[in-house]
Amino acid sequence: MSENFIFSRFGRKYENQTGIGQLMEDLGNLRPGMSMLGGGSPALIPEVEEAWREILSKFTSSNFWDSLLGKYETPSGKEETLEALASLLSSETGTKIHKDQIAITNGSQSAFYLLLNFFSGHFEDGSFRKIFLPVLPEYIGYLDQPIYSNSFAYSLGQVKTTGEDTFRYELDPSSLENWDDEKNPLGCVALSRPTNPTGRVASSEELEKILSFSRKRNIPLFLDNAYGYPFPGIVYSEQGLFHKEGMIQGFSLSKIGLPGVRTGFVLGDPEIISALNKANAVLNLASGNLGQFIALEFINSGEWLRLSRDIVRPFYRKKRDLAISCIRKEWKNKIRYSLHESEGAFFLWAKFSGLNRKISELYPILKENGVIIVPGKYFYPTPVSQEPFAEECVRISFAREDQEIQEGIHKIGKVLSSFAE
Ligand SMILES: Cc1ncc(COP(=O)(O)O)c(C=O)c1O
Repeated sequence: MSENFIFSRFGRKYENQTGIGQLMEDLGNLRPGMSMLGGGSPALIPEVEEAWREILSKFTSSNFWDSLLGKYETPSGKEETLEALASLLSSETGTKIHKDQIAITNGSQSAFYLLLNFFSGHFEDGSFRKIFLPVLPEYIGYLDQPIYSNSFAYSLGQVKTTGEDTFRYELDPSSLENWDDEKNPLGCVALSRPTNPTGRVASSEELEKILSFSRKRNIPLFLDNAYGYPFPGIVYSEQGLFHKEGMIQGFSLSKIGLPGVRTGFVLGDPEIISALNKANAVLNLASGNLGQFIALEFINSGEWLRLSRDIVRPFYRKKRDLAISCIRKEWKNKIRYSLHESEGAFFLWAKFSGLNRKISELYPILKENGVIIVPGKYFYPTPVSQEPFAEECVRISFAREDQEIQEGIHKIGKVLSSFAE
């Protein structure tokens, strides 16, 4: 490109490589023998792959091919899939949900891009409103999405020690009670449940408090269920699906094993869904067909429940138990660490103390020694990402082969112990 071309402010946001962008490239350029505990991809589970093969084998008649590959769907999505999802969500939430409350998008990531920008930034009344993250850290993928910089407001939550080497970030009710709306006007609230990176599953009591906070301000609460209910249902605690009026829910086909089809769903009020569909038409004309066809079969056959409950959740629970016991074996008495309670998703969030280097400085050394993790600071918006505590944490994925998990944890222990004071 000519050096004379000048990017707009919007373009400049994407012109330079971001830290996380660099990291994502690292994840794609692995040396053989590397322990890849950094990525966000789900594991390849044979029983799940078999289910996709079975569904795809049904799409062989020319009828299917014509409509699957040969035509654009409408921007709102395939009618039958919308109906199937509305019926599933009606029974799962216990409220009557109509198909005009559901949008199908190219992955839930793109839905969040639109929704977060619908409800943050400059408003008609002259205000600049932010996205509130009630308990940090939060999903990395939200942080670069707002068009305007400085679009996040947050509460750090409270750190509660739950065991000898475990803790939990809890909602800090006083931060909600004492919120200064003059100083920090809000346009929406967002949280992932289970939370990527911590594996935290916000309790229904916490969600009630957050919902009442958002209702008081007449702003939507986005709940991102990418790892949660109804599928893939990677929740190890007793918590269930939480849905109430005024909420906008995000769902995804990715974490049950289909990240490549790029299909997500949004449940919300019809006016919001209608705006989302219009924006989807501008950006994409329509969402991809394959995920919509698979979803229809997946929901109508009941496979969503069998895979989530009987295969995927037990699979990750076993991996989680392996990773935690391996950490206890490898790290105890070598480094000072504490793990966030693992209540869902497929990550562990580890907090270290007594290291004489920042985690982001140790990242290249870990990489050199054959293990990739994600430094914690990327899960905090600026300026929190510069705080010392953000440099004491890492996210570790356990959606990997057992041996890779064990070797990776061993390598982390070995490297970090040489920087322990
Ligand atoms: C919490 C969370 N939400 C949303 C997404 C986006 O997923 P997708 O766009 O594949 O639906 C991810 C992906 O890693 C995630 O971790």
